[in-house]
Amino acid sequence: QMGISIFPLHKHKQYLSECCKLINDEWKRSETARLHSLESSCDSLPTSLVLVEDGRVIGHLKLTPIPSIKDACFVESVVIARHLRGQGYGRILMRGAEDHCRTALQLRTVYLSTKGQEGFYAKLGYVLCKPVSIYGCFVPETKKEEPKRVV
Ligand code: ACO
Repeated sequence: QMGISIFPLHKHKQYLSECCKLINDEWKRSETARLHSLESSCDSLPTSLVLVEDGRVIGHLKLTPIPSIKDACFVESVVIARHLRGQGYGRILMRGAEDHCRTALQLRTVYLSTKGQEGFYAKLGYVLCKPVSIYGCFVPETKKEEPKRVV
C-alpha cells in the first residue's frame, strides 16, 4: 500500500506493534502497558491515529476526552519517527488529526500541553491558553494554617 495516510489505529490493528515500538522509542515504557493504552482506541475517544507511509508507521498521536468540555479533546504522545523529523510529517499528522476531530468527531477545539515543542505548535497556529481543568473541578489549596478560634 503506497502513499501517505492517517488511520485510526483500531481500524488497522496490523500496525499495533509497530506503533508501540515507535512511541516506546521516544518515551520508554513497558510494551504491555503501551499496548494496553493503544488498545483503548475507539471510534469516539480516546483515538490513536497513525501516520502510515508505504506500509510503514512513521507517526502517532492520541486524542483523549476532556470530560468537562464536550466539544474538545486533548492531543497527546505526538511523535514522528526519528529519521524522518524536520521534513513536514509532523505538520501532516497534526492537520490530519484536526480534520478527524472536526469531521469525524465534530469537535471544535483541540488542546495540548508541551514542554519543548512550543515552536512546532506555534508554527501550526496553536496559541497559548489558560490551563484546562479536565474534570472541571478544583482541589483545595493546601492550607498553611489550621482553623483556630480565639476563645
Ligand atoms: N521549534 C520550532 N519550530 C519547529 C520545531 C521546534 N521544536 N519542530 C518543528 N518545527 C517547525 C519546522 O521547522 C517546520 O517549519 P516550516 O514549515 O517553516 O518548515 C514546522 O515546524 C513543521 O515541522 P515538521 O517537519 O512537520 O515537524 P516534525 O515532522 O519534525 O514533527 C515533532 C515534530 C512531532 C515534534 C517531532 O519532532 C517529534 O516526534 N519529536 C519528538 C517527540 C516530541 O517531542 N513530541 C511532542 C510532544 S508534545 C505532545 O505530544 C502534545
